[in-house]
Amino acid sequence: MCGIVGFTGTQDAAPILLDGLKKLEYRGYDSAGIAVMDQKTISVNKVRGRIANLCEKTDNGSSVPGTTGIGHTRWATHGAPTEENAHPHLSNDGRFAIVHNGIIENYLALRDELIREGYQFQSETDTEVIVHLLERYYRGNVREALLKTANRLRGSYALGVICSEEPGKIYAVREASPLILGIGIDDNYFASDVTALVAHTRNVIYLEDGEFAELSQRSIRIFDCTGAEIHKKTTRILWDVQAAEKGGYPHFMLKEIMEQPGAVRATIAPRIKNGTVEFEELGALLPELPGIRKIIITACGSAYYAGCAGKYALEQLCHIPVEVALASELRYANPLTDEHTLLIVISQSGETADTIAALKECKSRGAKTLAIVNVVGSSVAKSADYTVYTWAGPEIAVATTKGYTTQVAVLYMLAICFADHLCQLGNDKEERLDTLLALPRLIQQAIDMNPSIPELAKKYHKSKALFFIGRNTDYASALEGALKMKEISYLHAEAYAAGELKHGTIALIDDHQPVIALCCNPSIMEKTLSNIVEVKSRGAEVLALTFRDNQKILPVADDLLFIPNVDALFSTAVEIVPLQLLAYYVAKENGCDIDKPKNLAKSVTVE
Ligand code: AGP
Repeated sequence: MCGIVGFTGTQDAAPILLDGLKKLEYRGYDSAGIAVMDQKTISVNKVRGRIANLCEKTDNGSSVPGTTGIGHTRWATHGAPTEENAHPHLSNDGRFAIVHNGIIENYLALRDELIREGYQFQSETDTEVIVHLLERYYRGNVREALLKTANRLRGSYALGVICSEEPGKIYAVREASPLILGIGIDDNYFASDVTALVAHTRNVIYLEDGEFAELSQRSIRIFDCTGAEIHKKTTRILWDVQAAEKGGYPHFMLKEIMEQPGAVRATIAPRIKNGTVEFEELGALLPELPGIRKIIITACGSAYYAGCAGKYALEQLCHIPVEVALASELRYANPLTDEHTLLIVISQSGETADTIAALKECKSRGAKTLAIVNVVGSSVAKSADYTVYTWAGPEIAVATTKGYTTQVAVLYMLAICFADHLCQLGNDKEERLDTLLALPRLIQQAIDMNPSIPELAKKYHKSKALFFIGRNTDYASALEGALKMKEISYLHAEAYAAGELKHGTIALIDDHQPVIALCCNPSIMEKTLSNIVEVKSRGAEVLALTFRDNQKILPVADDLLFIPNVDALFSTAVEIVPLQLLAYYVAKENGCDIDKPKNLAKSVTVE
């Protein structure tokens, strides 16, 4: 969603801000802007649409002199994506410019109050109240004005602020929306996402809720919500700049699909030690497992579907009932959780608003909480009792691929680890571990054994609708396969539990209706085969996904996708890969903006 960058130093700010905003494009946005301060003059440039328009408007930044500035990409929430509503916003006296991520929940009341006092509003945004409050509270001290303003705001905000009375300084304020400070040599930075910082520095400081920072060319000072100065540790970002670049691939999504063998290896390999799965992060949780009566997995979108896939392994190996709940529902469902509940929260970004809220809700009701997260230092990681990082590296494409497979891999590992601690693993422990260790190789094979996908995409890309069917673990994979198809190709795609078809959906099956049938789970293979025959006899065109030596499928499928043989309990991490590739190539045929699908954002930080 929205993105923030800030810079102060010796070089011209505008090109650096524009470059930082380009790095944040993947998050999704519909307008952008920068404010640059030259001595005591602030100039603001804003555009609708892409950063390229902003580059054009400012001659790649060269028409905007000044070594201090802030920039923003906006994903519209309050007010249409227009130039007026784009950030930065200026105070009426022109002293302050601000950029904001998040939502100010009490903005209407504040807006009325400020209008009564004579402040003039130029936009429909919730953000604009902040800049007028700053003007109202400013009495020669920016830090004091920031504190007083922050005390009036309810909701979430990451703020970037400049004030013409303090040339060379940029301010960053955080409440429930990420903000990271980047430490340079003769320059300093902030951004809402480390991807905008790594080209300049690997040394960063994560701001916490309630903290704010004052950055100048050579100093960074951080304060708590009372205004007292605090000292925070510096973190070194370990991944390199190339990790956030396309590396010769036409799209980040394709690159990230291809990275999955390596990403899953990085997730699994370091945690298999001494002939078992070891999570050092979970030291204090493991002795408490015998007291756990129920596991709830909660998340949104693909992360929720990862939970649907992991449920089978957790339940079957640990013998603990597992519920999978959408975070947007769970947060308002008065969840029945107590100290005997383990809540597993899954989030690639760690910043998804509903997921954070569901986590807090269940935690306040006594649940033990474990987060599976990719982004280090994110809000979910900080709020949970225990955090397991997926180590997938930066994921830039809006449609998650390696984020999802690594989440699924962690769930498989948790299932084995918990079952081992509960003494539920039998003689097949070694076999289970071998399967886990083989997953990167099997994923690579799933990529290699389907060269026909670009051709199949040509056949299916004009379909009005695609139905994905499967049972059990295949159904979990179907859910994610259909979501991938929808979000990047804009085709209507639905996943159905194959056994449910005859309870209504089969009415939609007609001549040449494509049905993507997942048959990678031998325990229910015969049942799914019957469902395939049912749709075939109503005219459907069946593209079946199955393991290579499955002869039974040949007579009923029109087209085939393959995966290598893999234990069905762990098969989703492998069978999703051809479906990701299919979605990718269908979207390519349809000329879609694959890495930045319309209306979507990478990290959904609003409810
Ligand atoms: C996946 O392709 C989607 N873009 C989306 O469903 C995503 O998985 C969801 O928004 C959750 O995000 P998170 O993992 O960062 O919490």
